[in-house]
Amino acid sequence: MATDKQTLRIGLIGFGCVGQGLYDILQQRPETGFEVARIAVKNPTKPRSLPLSQFDFHADDLLHDPSLDVLVEVIDDAAEAFRLVSEALRQGRRVVTANKAMLARHLPELVQLQRQAGGTLLYEAAVCGSIPIIRTLDAYFGAEPLRSVTGILNGSSNYVLTRMGEEGSDYAPALAEAQAKGFAETDPTLDMGAFDPRSKAVILAAHAYGTFLQPEEVLNLGIEQINAVDIAFAATLGRKIKVVAGLQRLPDGRVTALVTPLFVAPESPLYSVDHEFNGVLIEADFAGEQFLQGRGAGGHPTGSAVLADLAAIRQGYSYHYPKLTTSSPTYATDLELEIYLRTDEDRLIDALDFTEISEEADEDGYVVGYVALSNLLRVKELIQKFGAFVVRTGAVRPLTATTSALELEESL
Ligand SMILES: NC(=O)c1ccc[n+]([C@@H]2O[C@H](COP(=O)([O-])OP(=O)(O)OC[C@H]3O[C@@H](n4cnc5c(N)ncnc54)[C@H](OP(=O)(O)O)[C@@H]3O)[C@@H](O)[C@H]2O)c1
Repeated sequence: MATDKQTLRIGLIGFGCVGQGLYDILQQRPETGFEVARIAVKNPTKPRSLPLSQFDFHADDLLHDPSLDVLVEVIDDAAEAFRLVSEALRQGRRVVTANKAMLARHLPELVQLQRQAGGTLLYEAAVCGSIPIIRTLDAYFGAEPLRSVTGILNGSSNYVLTRMGEEGSDYAPALAEAQAKGFAETDPTLDMGAFDPRSKAVILAAHAYGTFLQPEEVLNLGIEQINAVDIAFAATLGRKIKVVAGLQRLPDGRVTALVTPLFVAPESPLYSVDHEFNGVLIEADFAGEQFLQGRGAGGHPTGSAVLADLAAIRQGYSYHYPKLTTSSPTYATDLELEIYLRTDEDRLIDALDFTEISEEADEDGYVVGYVALSNLLRVKELIQKFGAFVVRTGAVRPLTATTSALELEESL
């Protein structure tokens, strides 16, 4: 195994946006002491920026090469990534990954594998690209209770919202621009439907609170149906619509997680996080508020986070998951959220079963009021199906009434 002075030999699995970003950084900075010794990709006929002789087409060969000190997994296939990463950890190897979908689905198992076989898995690049949020939560705030962790965790949807909200673009061209600039995932639904930031919220919950969540437990509402009425409504409030992932400790000690569009006020540091940028606000019991902002995607910013993990691995660092204890807080969904719902579909309003309505504008087709979180989780697909759009106001309160959305949903 390499010591501090030696160059670490990297096995790089995946040579797309992130893999090439890392490769380029290491070429520009040979003094960092990392050498990309082998590269595995999938498609043997694809044109490459390096000679073909530099590529392997079977990632398993890298997995079983003992001369490699660290494996970097940056492929776009979550199931295959899990197979490769879990096998490497079973061998007690040191691995860096950027695959948030894989981590969100399998984190408990991956933590267990590290503990069993003594391997290390770092994944700073998986959440907010270049922003050092995971190590900040795991190492720096490992001992301090956190009130909340709130962030814009998806650069593509934030780019689209900025282009629409402040620059007057329509949805489709704004999304096409985000894709052309390389911010968007291969499948845009992951970004625009808020599945990508939901994965990141699940990862953050493990480090911020020691709570393992399954992605499906967390409400994610996207922006595919946003239109000019919604933007105009936000403007009348003096707010911007942003997709915000919020983890919050409740007064009874449980935690909740929500990933939805939110009306963000100018006083919030998230208000000025625009275009492809990401931002995370940490509220700690003793430190108070801290805010991190930076580039959440792209080859170099994400490659920079992978480089930081490689440097940490060289120093023998691994995540401690300090909040993962037998008394880790449980997950709460028995809450009501205040939402703005824009729809012309009465059946949806019925299905959501508002417990209180504070504003209703028939001509613009919107309602503002409180609904049970469980109802939003149940009728999430209907919101999409009916072309409706939901924005949270930010108000959350304990559940005040039992709801009947399940029955209503069945009648639709
Ligand atoms: N792009 C970003 O800004 C960003 C930011 C944060 C995290 N991430 C995450 O980083 C990962 C990689 O993203 P990306 O944007 O770099 O993807 P990408 O540009 O689509 O590249 C994917 C790479 O993985 C390779 N690959 C796929 N399946 C493989 C397999 N079974 N064996 C070997 N190689 C395989 C592909 O091979 P071929 O070249 O042969 O097609 C390609 O080189 C994803 O998990 C993504 O969510 C990306």
